Amino acid sequence: MVVQKVKGTEDLLADDARAWQYVSQKAYETFGRYGYEPIETPLFEQIDLFVRGIGESTDVVGKEMFHVLASDAYRRLGEGAAPDARHHLALRPEGTASVVRAAIEHNLVPTGGAPAKLAYAGPMFRAERPQKGRLREFHQIGVECLGADEPSADAEVIIMLMRFYEELGVPRESMRLLVNSMGDDRCRPAYRASVRRYILDHADEMCEECRHRADINPLRAYDCKNERCRKVMEGAPRISDALCDDCRSHYRAVTSYLDAAGIVYEEDPRLVRGLDYYTRTVFEVQVVDGMGSQNAIGGGGRYDKLMELMGGSPTPGLGFAIGYERTLLALAAVDVKLPLERPLGCYVAAAEPEVAPQVFAILQALRDAGVDADGDHQARSLKSQLKLAGKRGVAVAVVVGPDELVAGQVVVRDMRTHEQRNVVVAQVPEVVRAML
Ligand code: HAM
Repeated sequence: MVVQKVKGTEDLLADDARAWQYVSQKAYETFGRYGYEPIETPLFEQIDLFVRGIGESTDVVGKEMFHVLASDAYRRLGEGAAPDARHHLALRPEGTASVVRAAIEHNLVPTGGAPAKLAYAGPMFRAERPQKGRLREFHQIGVECLGADEPSADAEVIIMLMRFYEELGVPRESMRLLVNSMGDDRCRPAYRASVRRYILDHADEMCEECRHRADINPLRAYDCKNERCRKVMEGAPRISDALCDDCRSHYRAVTSYLDAAGIVYEEDPRLVRGLDYYTRTVFEVQVVDGMGSQNAIGGGGRYDKLMELMGGSPTPGLGFAIGYERTLLALAAVDVKLPLERPLGCYVAAAEPEVAPQVFAILQALRDAGVDADGDHQARSLKSQLKLAGKRGVAVAVVVGPDELVAGQVVVRDMRTHEQRNVVVAQVPEVVRAML
C-alpha cells in the first residue's frame, strides 16, 4: 500500500511552495519597517507551556493538541507509566506561548528596555476536523510585541496587520476588522460571573457544550456555532458595559489612534477569541464573502499577564497571527494572483548523447557564474530537450552539437526572439548572463 499524506496536511509543490516563500518574505519586509526582528522557535515544546499559556479549558489545548513522545517515553506509556512533564511534548498549536517562553529564557525584554518586537512564520498543528480553510498542519505568520502597554502599541500592530493584507492584494472592502476589549483581571472576573449566571438562567435553551462551558469558560459560549445558542447569547451581558475605567480608557485610546490613521473597524462586544491569555484589546480580520465559517484570516490581541504566568517578570505583550492558507483563499476569492517569480534562466541541450560531458561542464560554468541553468541527464532527443526548455519558460537555450564543438563553439538561442548565433564555449556564461 502506498503511504499517503495525513488528512488535514498539504504538500506544497512548486508554485505553492513559492507562494509560501513570497508571502512570508513579504511579511518580514513589511513588519521589518515597523522594527520587527525575525525569531524561530522549535516546532515542539513541553506540553505544559501550551497548557499553562493558552489555557486548559480552550479547545486548542483541551481537544486539538498533538502530543509528542520520544520512543522511550512512548514505550513506557504502553507499560502504563505516564511520561513526566519534561518528556511530555506537543507540536506547537500557535506561536505566542513559544515566543514568550523564548523571550523569558533569553531575557529579551530587560527591565526598562525597549519593547522586543518579534516576527515569525511557520507551521502550526491543531487536530481539528479538516475542512476548507481548516487544516491540521497550517501556516501562521505572526508578531509579538513584548514590553509596551501603551494603546499606541495596539494601534500600531493593528495598522501593520491591515497594511500587510492590503499590500498582499486583499481588497480592503472584502475584509472586516473587528475590535473589542476583553477587560483585565480587575473587571473580567465579575463579567465572566455575569455571563455564567446568564447561561445558567438560559440553560434549557442552550446546547450541552455551552452548559458545560458555563462553569469552565463561559465566554466561549459567544463562539458557539449552534443557532439557538447564538440567539440566546445575543441577549447576554456585554463586556463593553462591564469594563473598568482603566480598560475603558485604554480601549478608547486605541480606537482613537485607529480613527486618526483612517482605519475602518467594527466594534464587536461579542469578540472573545479562543485562547485564554487575552486581556484588553482583541481583534480579528474576517473575509466578507466566499469563505463560509472559516472566514477569520487573522487575529490577535493583548496578553498583559502571560509573561508573568509563564514565570517571567510582569511584562505586557500583544501580537497577532495571520492564517496563511485562509489568506490565500481570500486572495483566490477575489481572483488576485501573487506575482510569483519563476527563475527564467537557461537550458543547455545536447544535440547528440556523446557531447554529454561538454554539456555537463557548460552547465557548471553557467551556475558558477550565477545563471540559473538546467540540462538533461537522460540522453533525450534534442527535440524533447527543447520542448522541455520551452515548457519551463527559459529565456535562453544553449545547444551543444558535435559539429560546432569542432570549432570550440555552441549555438546560443534567445527563446523569446528565436534569434541564434554561435558562441565560443568559454564565453557562454558571459554571453548568456548578458541576455538574461
Ligand atoms: P488564532 O486566532 O488561534 O490566534 O489563529 C490565528 C489564525 O490562524 C486564524 O485567524 C486562522 O486564520 C488561522 N488558523 C487557526 N487555526 C487554523 C487551522 N486549523 N487551519 C487553518 N488556519 C488556521 C493565534 O494563534 C494567536 N497566537 C494569535 C496571537 C498572536 N495573538 C497574540 N499574538
